[in-house]
Amino acid sequence: MVRAGLTTTKAPFIEEAKSKGEVYIRQPYELYSEENQEAWRLLYARLLPRWEKYANPKFLEGVTKLALPSDRIPRLEDVNKFLAPLTGFEAKAVSGYIPPYIFFDCLRNRAFPTTITIRDINTLDYLPEPDIFHDVAGHVPMHTDRRFADVLVRFGEAARTASQVANETKDEKNRLRIIGNIVKAMARFFWFTIEFGLMRGKNGATQVYGSGLLSSYGEIEYCVESPEVQRVPMQLDWVVNQYFEIHHYQPLLFTVDSFDHLFDEIGRLEEWMKEGKLNNVSPGEPNINEQDLKEFLGADVVETVRT
Ligand SMILES: [Fe+2]
Repeated sequence: MVRAGLTTTKAPFIEEAKSKGEVYIRQPYELYSEENQEAWRLLYARLLPRWEKYANPKFLEGVTKLALPSDRIPRLEDVNKFLAPLTGFEAKAVSGYIPPYIFFDCLRNRAFPTTITIRDINTLDYLPEPDIFHDVAGHVPMHTDRRFADVLVRFGEAARTASQVANETKDEKNRLRIIGNIVKAMARFFWFTIEFGLMRGKNGATQVYGSGLLSSYGEIEYCVESPEVQRVPMQLDWVVNQYFEIHHYQPLLFTVDSFDHLFDEIGRLEEWMKEGKLNNVSPGEPNINEQDLKEFLGADVVETVRT
């Protein structure tokens, strides 16, 4: 008999949802195995002292405000009860990959697509794809902060702008090229801030606010302590042209001064879109597939028809 469980890449419930084309799903809490629960307990217990040492204070406040349990996987409905009154955000369970436009548009509507599976207990440090520890323990505590939440909403608005800007080009091939470049720039910006961002704290200390770092026992320490990591003050023209690789610790990270600073930078990113400055960013990762780009363009068409 196949054991149920909600282990990353091995969860029959998720496979079934995907085969039916279901994107938004419920969190079938009863399916978590004892091993799954133990994986959460171990991850949380290992990370907590490192959060206290390295995380941005807003993150730690968020962990408290959400009353994240240390001894069991959180129920999203419980998390949302605390989260929604603070910033209007909610964690919304999904079956897996979300195309970029839909992802950003969810953020605009203050919904955060959230994975509900958890990594295999035997490989706690290996993450083949996001899991609930990355999404709920790594991302969601930041969503309790108003300014940070506003930054996420601005991503969604910028995605709309991207679609509108690219659709002004009549030639289809050129249109696809432009949207491909803009989405690449947006994905890089998201990666180097929301996923792997650092902040300069009091007395010049480095504080971690990126969820990829906050959910990694090894990398949260490495990114602050290792002399091999380049920590560079936020520089938008560099970020949008910088490729990244996902399967190893990041050798290059960008530091912002505050979430106000981050908010202003995404405003600049949007301005650059309108000016055409993002139409020719440097090639390389991430690669966005053509279907996803067409969806980005189609989003604008749908909007136009509606209005
Ligand atoms: Fe993430």
